[in-house]
Amino acid sequence: MAEHPAYPVGLRLTGRRVVVLGGGQVAQRRLPALIAAGADIRLVSPEATPSVEAMADAGEIAWDRRPYAEGDLADAWYALIATSDPEANTAASAEAERHRVWCVRSDDADRATAWTPATGHSEGVTVAVLTTNARGRDPRHTAAIRDAVVEGLRDGTLVAPHHRTRTAGVALVGGGPGDPDLITVRGRRLLAEADVVIADRLGPRDLLAELPPHVEVIDAAKIPYGRFMAQEAINNALIEHAKQGKAVVRLKGGDPFVFGRGMEEAQALAEAGIPCTVVPGISSSVSVPGAAGIPVTHRGVAHEFTVVSGHVAPDDERSLVDWASLAKLTGTLVILMGVDKIGRIAETLVAHGKSPDTPVALVQEGTTAAQRRVDATLATVARTVVAQEVKPPAVIVVGEVVHVGPHGTV
Ligand SMILES: C[S@@+](CC[C@H](N)C(=O)[O-])C[C@H]1O[C@@H](n2cnc3c(N)ncnc32)[C@H](O)[C@@H]1O
Repeated sequence: MAEHPAYPVGLRLTGRRVVVLGGGQVAQRRLPALIAAGADIRLVSPEATPSVEAMADAGEIAWDRRPYAEGDLADAWYALIATSDPEANTAASAEAERHRVWCVRSDDADRATAWTPATGHSEGVTVAVLTTNARGRDPRHTAAIRDAVVEGLRDGTLVAPHHRTRTAGVALVGGGPGDPDLITVRGRRLLAEADVVIADRLGPRDLLAELPPHVEVIDAAKIPYGRFMAQEAINNALIEHAKQGKAVVRLKGGDPFVFGRGMEEAQALAEAGIPCTVVPGISSSVSVPGAAGIPVTHRGVAHEFTVVSGHVAPDDERSLVDWASLAKLTGTLVILMGVDKIGRIAETLVAHGKSPDTPVALVQEGTTAAQRRVDATLATVARTVVAQEVKPPAVIVVGEVVHVGPHGTV
């Protein structure tokens, strides 16, 4: 007899009785998705794995601690038969057939009336992969197809633009410190769907080269600003492109809200009535020290870290940083935008009581192929920066964590 293909369908199980027979590994793997679907789950099994037990303890499933008995499937919409007793499986399967309950069987896919596809999720879509018929069943192959599709959608290598639910307006995307692998999955997907990308100098610039030719890439530093401030000109560019109905990504280095002026852009968009999505990013303040082998905290060494901007010198009246208080902290100080002013900053910290021997590390162009680390102390850092020609962008770490490495404190 010719074997017909299985008919794929999405079951809406919210509030509907699903019976699971057997509380072993199969149930453990399948239950989370049934719980997520809002099913009214009754587990019938004398025993269960600790994870399944935890689901029962948490009230996510009801558990009858006994073997299967005739009648258990009477009020079920759907059943998962996965006991270790072949006779019970066969009897339950026959009962399911009589009551017209669709059932999956872990021990005999041929006799099951339903199959569980390999499933994955990406941004509001469920990808479910089934082999066409029992003869072609190869669970590893279906799982591999599922992984390829989901991964591709997540990292943007598989582009399936949204039509009805495409993110309207502007997405402020934190691109991470520079390594193109360190952008978030959501950021990468929005980038893959963009019509216009307005990018900073910092961040994952390599990703721009991968964009399709129709995408307009604008260097934020090169937007002419005439009578406006540079930031105003960027805000205007975002608004103008979004008003033309384009999907605009504002790609920023690190996280948009860590010295990134992200909220100024979000406010300008709100004033113009343009929808704005903010996608967080991995900030250089933590990731760049980490990439150079420096943990910003370490047990027994530093219980706090403080991130400060060094773009204005401590004695500059525009400075909002209380360097005298920072000098008294025992934790780690992470300074961004501080290369030019590090001499004055180090002097100020020492003048307010920090030891001149406090270790300092400067990590330039962290997470990129050009990453370099230069070590100094508060006493020597000004000279070292000049002698070693340290240039921005660099993250400066001040504190004992500089001496903590994979082999312990050195
Ligand atoms: C305007 S701030 C933006 C910070 C960004 N929003 C973040 O969360 O990382 C720019 C400063 O971040 C630091 N920075 C950003 N990316 C860096 C990298 N890959 N390597 C070293 N420093 C970096 C430098 O101190 C640079 O001057």
